[in-house]
Amino acid sequence: LLRVASLGSRASSPVNSRPSVEDLLSRRKRVLGPALAPLTYERPLYLVRGRGSQMFDEDGAAYLDAYNNVPVVGHCNPHVSDAIADQSRTLNTNTRYLHESVVELAEQLISTMPEQLDTVMFFNSGSEANDIAWRLASSYTGAEGAIVTDFAYHGVTTATIALSPEEWPRDEQPNHVATIAPPDSYRGPRLEDESMARDVAAANIDDALGTLRGRGMRPAAFFADSLFTSDGIFHPPASYLQEVVGRVQAAGGLFVADEVQSGYGRSGTGLWSFAALDVTPDLVTLGKPMGNGHPVAAVITRAHIAEHFASRTELFSTFGGNPVACRAALAVLEVIEEERLQQHAQDVGGYLRSGLERLKERHESIGDVRGAGLLIGVDLVRDRNTREPDPDLARAVMSAMRERRVLVGSTGPHDNVLKIRPPLVLTLSEADVIVDTLDACLSALEPSQGQ
Ligand SMILES: Cc1ncc(COP(=O)(O)O)c(C=O)c1O
Repeated sequence: LLRVASLGSRASSPVNSRPSVEDLLSRRKRVLGPALAPLTYERPLYLVRGRGSQMFDEDGAAYLDAYNNVPVVGHCNPHVSDAIADQSRTLNTNTRYLHESVVELAEQLISTMPEQLDTVMFFNSGSEANDIAWRLASSYTGAEGAIVTDFAYHGVTTATIALSPEEWPRDEQPNHVATIAPPDSYRGPRLEDESMARDVAAANIDDALGTLRGRGMRPAAFFADSLFTSDGIFHPPASYLQEVVGRVQAAGGLFVADEVQSGYGRSGTGLWSFAALDVTPDLVTLGKPMGNGHPVAAVITRAHIAEHFASRTELFSTFGGNPVACRAALAVLEVIEEERLQQHAQDVGGYLRSGLERLKERHESIGDVRGAGLLIGVDLVRDRNTREPDPDLARAVMSAMRERRVLVGSTGPHDNVLKIRPPLVLTLSEADVIVDTLDACLSALEPSQGQ
């Protein structure tokens, strides 16, 4: 009774009597446990509101969000929020009743895909979509083996953690998964042209297929994020993935294009990042930005793969494809189209990348600037000649930028690559702010690095 009473009084407390940062921190530690308690910054950010590419803290200070890809059409986009609110006031139920929203969304997604990808299933998170993609692939092929990139991340469930070397405990590799090096032209073999990329890809994938063969396994699927976000952000020539996918498919495996990170126009060259590669995936998984923050995810596949699965078992997700989620996802597609955000990602992303490239002339610690559209990696090094990664500097830059109210992340196996991945509504002047802030932070931090 006491608990209910105190919950009630807290729920009705006015917004301006927010808990202090210290109070919230200690309560959070007490109830969230060690797995969920870690926060992004040593001096934690307490954010209360968002709009466009900005978020605001409890004192009303604005932060430029150059990190979050989920709010793809801008934080709290009014068109998406209205769609969610309207539908949640009208009806929200499961997909075992007729409702036009789930059909409209499936039709719209299919219209953006290659012809063969004609069947959509809806879920609630990227992990769930990849988990089901793995079940579909292993059931269809009857094979047990998987191939992923060296530092891939595909989700949090038991099946998808096995597909996520980024999270594997040291020296504990699942026996059914082989890895392939990402197309890292900066530290690995140069992939300057299509034929070089094809040769490197062939050698890499043959190696992974050989590893599975050595364990007595055939490949069920190759999972890849076409922009290799967790591997350190790479944008290889199209022939790289074409060669890998061709060889996996020739060995009987399926290609799962994981668009959870890099989809929804981020690459600038298409709504989906695999589109620039001229390969047709067997399965595509969507999540994160799909509902601009509202949970919704999907697997899109070929009818015969879905039919094979349905002939053996039933598939039902209680919340997957509910009308509120579908209205959110439809509204996101509308905004991307109306505001031409894919083209915008290409234009502003190109502008931002050239601004960051220019910083290389002033800062020895920038080894490489790479990426596509509004997914950009800035590879920080201790020494330009040896290209030794500098994760300490990356960490220091992230927190110095936060103090100057610009949020960026870090990625890659050494955690030394600054990850710049803002909402696609980022403006040119906001791109300037990112470049100027990084410039100022590196100027402040670099001299002390040499001491
Ligand atoms: C490429 C990729 N796939 C899948 C996932 C899992 O998505 P979720 O966290 O929504 O389950 C992520 C999350 O970061 C991701 O980056």
